[in-house]
Amino acid sequence: MARSQALTGILFATGGTAIFSVNDVAIKFLSAGYALHQIILIRAIVAMTADRVIGYRGNLPWHLTEDLAFFKKTTSGHPIVMGRKTYESIGRPLPKRRNIVLTRDLSWKADGIEVIHQPIDLSKLPDIEGQVFIIGGAEIYAAFMPQIEDLLVSHVFENYVGDTRLPSFENEFPQSEVIESHQAFKVRRHFRANSLPH
Ligand SMILES: NC(=O)c1ccc[n+]([C@@H]2O[C@H](COP(=O)([O-])OP(=O)(O)OC[C@H]3O[C@@H](n4cnc5c(N)ncnc54)[C@H](OP(=O)(O)O)[C@@H]3O)[C@@H](O)[C@H]2O)c1
Repeated sequence: MARSQALTGILFATGGTAIFSVNDVAIKFLSAGYALHQIILIRAIVAMTADRVIGYRGNLPWHLTEDLAFFKKTTSGHPIVMGRKTYESIGRPLPKRRNIVLTRDLSWKADGIEVIHQPIDLSKLPDIEGQVFIIGGAEIYAAFMPQIEDLLVSHVFENYVGDTRLPSFENEFPQSEVIESHQAFKVRRHFRANSLPH
């Protein structure tokens, strides 16, 4: 994300934390009184088939080692945000990442997990900064879609039976570029019309 992009707007500006849809323009906001550490770039990462399947019976429908490796290398060191159902399917916090779970259940808690109850609460967490990855599932992608700067989508070539599908995002993110190719899938970065391609 070291290349220039057009500013698409301030998404949240609450409690002193600003979420911008770009990072290269951060310097402009330093002069506006924001410190660099206060800026959040929200990205989504997901794997889906051509018919939009992302899950089946609470789990991933496939086991793609190279996609898990892409997920790990991309998200490691950054906060990740997931729905309560996806967390329960993983069953533990993912290491080397700040794990944040979205649930409406005010009493829900789990070791090693920070809990939020609505998307706007993300910006109110202490010391949240830099890239933050929305890692699913379908409900959470939908809930954060207006705030997402770009989506890293592993387009899985084979079809799988599924019961959970990624909501349509293509109208809002009409531009894309291939960033990795593998035997079973290709990773595309999908971005908004007012962002410049990398
Ligand atoms: N292919 C992929 O890349 C990928 C990635 C992630 C997950 N998945 C798959 O997706 C499936 C799970 O997806 P899902 O859509 O069923 O569940 P989910 O998005 O993981 O979690 C849904 C839960 O999140 C909470 N939630 C949703 N919207 C909320 C809001 N606006 N405010 C507060 N809380 C909210 C609710 O929790 P409460 O019920 O506790 O209130 C809701 O039941 C699984 O099969 C999983 O394996 C696939």
